[in-house]
Amino acid sequence: MTAIEEHPTPMGFGRMHRKEDVRFLRGHGNYVDDIVLPGMLHGAVLRSPHAHAKILSVDTSAAQAHPKVRAVITGETLAGLNLAWMPTLSHDVQAVLATDKVRFQGQEVAFVVAEDRYSARDALELIDVEYEPLPPVVDARHALDEDAPVIRDDIEGRTDNHIFDWEAGDRARTDEVFAAADVVAAADMIYPRVHPAPMETCGAVADLDPVTGKLTMYTTTQAPHAHRTVYALVAGLPEHRIRVVSPDIGGGFGNKVGIYPGYVCAIVGSILTQKPVKWMEDRSENLMSTSFARDYHMHGEIASTKDGKILGIRVKVLADHGAFNGTAQPSKFPAGFFGVFTGSYDIEAAHCEVTGVYTNKAPGGVAYACSFRITEAVYLVERMVDVLAYDLGVDPAHLRMRNLLRAEQFPYLTKTGWEYDSGDYPRALRMAMDMVDYDELRAEQAQRRELNANGESGDLLGIGVAFFTEAVGAGPRKHMDILGLGMADGAELRVHPTGKAVLRLSCQSQGQGHETTFAQIVAEELGIPPDDIDVVHGDTDQTPFGLGTYGSRSTPVSGAATAVVARRVRERARLVASAMLEVSPDDLEWEKGRWFVKGDPEAGKSIQDIAMAAHSSLELPEGVEGHLDATCVYNPPNLTYPFGAYICVVEVDSDTGQVRVRKFVAVDDCGVRINPMIVEGQIHGGLAEGVGMALMQVMAFDEDGNHLGGSFMDYLLPTSLECPSWQLGETVTPSPHHPIGAKGIGESATVGSPAAVVNAVLDALKPYGVRHADMPLTPAAVWRAMQGRPLRP
Ligand code: CDP
Repeated sequence: MTAIEEHPTPMGFGRMHRKEDVRFLRGHGNYVDDIVLPGMLHGAVLRSPHAHAKILSVDTSAAQAHPKVRAVITGETLAGLNLAWMPTLSHDVQAVLATDKVRFQGQEVAFVVAEDRYSARDALELIDVEYEPLPPVVDARHALDEDAPVIRDDIEGRTDNHIFDWEAGDRARTDEVFAAADVVAAADMIYPRVHPAPMETCGAVADLDPVTGKLTMYTTTQAPHAHRTVYALVAGLPEHRIRVVSPDIGGGFGNKVGIYPGYVCAIVGSILTQKPVKWMEDRSENLMSTSFARDYHMHGEIASTKDGKILGIRVKVLADHGAFNGTAQPSKFPAGFFGVFTGSYDIEAAHCEVTGVYTNKAPGGVAYACSFRITEAVYLVERMVDVLAYDLGVDPAHLRMRNLLRAEQFPYLTKTGWEYDSGDYPRALRMAMDMVDYDELRAEQAQRRELNANGESGDLLGIGVAFFTEAVGAGPRKHMDILGLGMADGAELRVHPTGKAVLRLSCQSQGQGHETTFAQIVAEELGIPPDDIDVVHGDTDQTPFGLGTYGSRSTPVSGAATAVVARRVRERARLVASAMLEVSPDDLEWEKGRWFVKGDPEAGKSIQDIAMAAHSSLELPEGVEGHLDATCVYNPPNLTYPFGAYICVVEVDSDTGQVRVRKFVAVDDCGVRINPMIVEGQIHGGLAEGVGMALMQVMAFDEDGNHLGGSFMDYLLPTSLECPSWQLGETVTPSPHHPIGAKGIGESATVGSPAAVVNAVLDALKPYGVRHADMPLTPAAVWRAMQGRPLRP
């Protein structure tokens, strides 16, 4: 019997099958590319073959003459409409279609609208663009060189490629702590450019009704309401005449937060042709031109006493933002939540500085399955702790245990100003160590190393530990906004006369199972079975405003809104029940699903009875409106801080550098779990992504800025072959400020796992004296790291 079968549909939290799978498993999902509208035309984008080049001329006459082409749009067409440039999420501008120069390979240059997608693609080849190639900036470390070509000469007065400087923490205090420390360990490391690579690429169907002027955008977005507002601001269309529909989405991972030129071109195509226009990018377009993640060059320093008490952390980061600063971060945080780089440790002082630069690469810098650059921060601190352990010659798990924050220190204010809400870190690490049989593994490793030293085995054993704290649920309005939009979420709950309910949410699932878990929250609060609650999301005409789903914010923000709105319904139900039972509301007591008279449990009314009465002719007391519907806008008081202890065990073939993940133990704490089955699925996916980043993924470029990973032949995704059978453990430390005590989980595993895998591989290579090597640790990279280094006994 499976775990699911043991647990019938719960009246609230617990394991249950995903409601949405009924349609997905039968092939009834409805994705953007499934949408077909009457008279619909198809768009295709012409892209730059150069990383950096002046555009001398664009000749579209042959394409226009193609019998099936209805429109050809260039930068010049858009300039005439004042749409050649659009704002990015980070207060920069980005070319919709290039006018003056192209600034990365794959940049959008022209858009063809044709009767079918094949003709649109064919016609691209008929467009003649004359380029004058310019020297590109490919390596961010040379972006600020005196003689570096200036990429953004479209910005008046710009003479270099500098975007921003940002810092956090106390520099002077940190310098003092470092000056007095016994030991300072330093290392340079790169978190390479990677890509979220969702299964479904990005796309849109734009449908501007020429009679009513209403624009309907069916589009792959993680933030339908924010997109609607941006379209209104950019195109000057009235916001109430824009409807953004985000139907079923095949994975987002941050890739579908921003607005891409193709979306705007589809809208302009629909305006010009007065027909709906569909644009769907292909895999190479997705990998080459849509938002990348990471690309941080980091210098870390960690100070400690001789016996391993960590005192301070100091970091310098160079952030490669590509050709346009299109990162998706709350406005006040140009380096996202990198400020959480002090990790899970009790330290005296910390300071970081981050410099952002332009390069001739695709724009973006999205929170790929993480909360705004926290993956980079966690990777840095967890590598640095291992580097310190290496230098001190101590066990990395014991070093962590010694320095982890203790349960009694929560709520804990970090040295960079974040207030961690709750946690018991040592308990989680102890559990992971017990689950993996840590001491036994170390004994096996010692034996293996002896065999290695005697030449009796070429298989190296590595054990990697990582502990992470995530910061999810952006975020409190007073601290956070994106493009000036506060990060509160709305929720509406309608309860029909027969007790069935409809919950309307501003956040939008891309496969995380919201239709199930959010119904479970209502079920937990009201005692209405989850199957009697439909969740409506992904359509701005049908849902309240909110900022969408990314950075694991759905449960922390919209989940809280759902609990609050359900409690409002419950309070309305109390007033109606008091009229039904002819007692004072104060004399009623709630048990899941019904109000009853205190001391007389038999005298009660179910929520279904109350819903019917609320719509009936029952005389209600003065001031009680009837109906049970309620709304709420939830402004989170703080972020939630999930955490976890991960231990990865690898075997490395010393002849080939091939890494095999033998075992992976993940103990996660995301507070109260709504649906443990979904939580575990989220963790499995994130762990696989971590293995991918640690061992096989990088968006590489040659010295001319040519993209070297434009297909899944080169940009590798982990499969079940590279992943072990994950062993999961859990602790539950409720968030004290979240109405149901839940924290986010969607991204924890992606955040914590790369460091665990890399630490494991480097632990295996320790006898060769390898202290650090950068991701991805491909066989070639591992092999290179060992070369010329004798095996030490
Ligand atoms: O924002 P996103 O949905 O990507 O992330 P999330 O809020 O962490 O939630 C991912 C999925 O896990 C959703 O279906 C959540 O409702 C579910 N979840 C849960 O069941 N219990 C938690 N404590 C956190 C999330």
